[in-house]
Amino acid sequence: MTISEMIFADACKVIPGGVNSPVRSFQAVGMQPMIVASGSGDLICDVDGREFIDYCGSWGQLILGHAEPRVVRATQQQIEKGSSFGIATKIEGELARKIVELIPSVEKLRFVSSGTEATMTALRIARGYTGRQKIVKFIGHYHGHSDSLLVQAGSGVSALNVEATSKGVNASAIADTICLPFNDIGAVRSFLRSGNGEKIAAVIVEPIAGNMGVVLPEKGFLEMLREETALAGALLIFDEVITGFRVALGGAQGFFGIDPDMTCFGKIIGGGFPAAAVGGKAKIMDVLAPIGQVYQAGTLSGNPVAMCAGLETLRQLEVEGFYQRLEEKTKRLVLPIEKALEKIPGCIQRCGSMFTLFFGVKQVRNKEDLKSIDEAKFRRFFKALFERGIYIPPASSEAWFVSAAHTDERLDFTANVICSLLRDGI
Ligand SMILES: Cc1ncc(COP(=O)(O)O)c(C=O)c1O
Repeated sequence: MTISEMIFADACKVIPGGVNSPVRSFQAVGMQPMIVASGSGDLICDVDGREFIDYCGSWGQLILGHAEPRVVRATQQQIEKGSSFGIATKIEGELARKIVELIPSVEKLRFVSSGTEATMTALRIARGYTGRQKIVKFIGHYHGHSDSLLVQAGSGVSALNVEATSKGVNASAIADTICLPFNDIGAVRSFLRSGNGEKIAAVIVEPIAGNMGVVLPEKGFLEMLREETALAGALLIFDEVITGFRVALGGAQGFFGIDPDMTCFGKIIGGGFPAAAVGGKAKIMDVLAPIGQVYQAGTLSGNPVAMCAGLETLRQLEVEGFYQRLEEKTKRLVLPIEKALEKIPGCIQRCGSMFTLFFGVKQVRNKEDLKSIDEAKFRRFFKALFERGIYIPPASSEAWFVSAAHTDERLDFTANVICSLLRDGI
């Protein structure tokens, strides 16, 4: 037995399925999960001493790579001064100001500890602000695991249940959630215009879907959402938990030039620690207690260590040319693979440094298209990469991430391995 296998077997006795988030179990790829021991830059090392080039990056969180020295130093200094107070600190205001400065649609924001809390809070604010009950989400989009959003969600959930609705969620909890098809301008417009619009508190969308693999919005889709929600008096919420500070310094909203009413952030703003946020126009955000009547709270919200890590991360993202360099790194990896894919059924869908390699399809526009994915091929592919020291997300419809820490040598090595696997057939 390997050390990983022993640790996992022990964990299974005390943690359901041995993991604290289902996709970590490697169930979707039919393998024993890795037990990670450490990470540095673009590499992670498991407890058996195996090294992997990491393209998961803590699910998109680590845009600077693992244990980035300045983030480590900043957080160590904060820990020495105290790691949690449950009292207001200066650093949370600094990070909030930085986000407000970088994201023009956000005038005020509140920090929470997870993306799930951010989206859940966004819906509560929207309902409190508009006095309406219903919300619209898109099929295949994942916004965390709060009850009202756990319907027709992303890849981790669909592996669990084909209906994409978890057991334990009361029908009443999702009764006000309406699921519409992503990228279907006609269907969404006609739904909102046929007497439903005025009942909708908010439309929540991943502006670039990342949880059914990377699926870009088609031309005009986000613009239509902006137009129709404004017309209906509903709020438009961009869930930028993945895309925020990933695809551009201004997030997907900056990339596409659309101002939502509210935005949810997570992942990158915590710089490797648990932090997330919900932000938006001041008049909307001020419905939150203690000013307004919408209650929301958290012992660890705005945790100073997470705030330090987030602020240090954002400062590095602001350096001139950061996103251009990240784009070049990603192209170095992706372009040769795209060439190899010309001869076999498969495609890469990408925005900046996030992308997905889909097997068996030439395009994915929505959840329906995922039905044609060659899952067996993905499983063989994952295993072959794993054996060669390359770690990608362990499910077929997830986003891969390139970080600033990925070296040219390792990107070239990865591209060569993938191209030869594609050429030789997996
Ligand atoms: C777009 C999106 N929203 C919300 C969430 C939930 O975030 P968390 O896992 O921090 O609760 C995720 C998680 O991956 C996500 O991708």
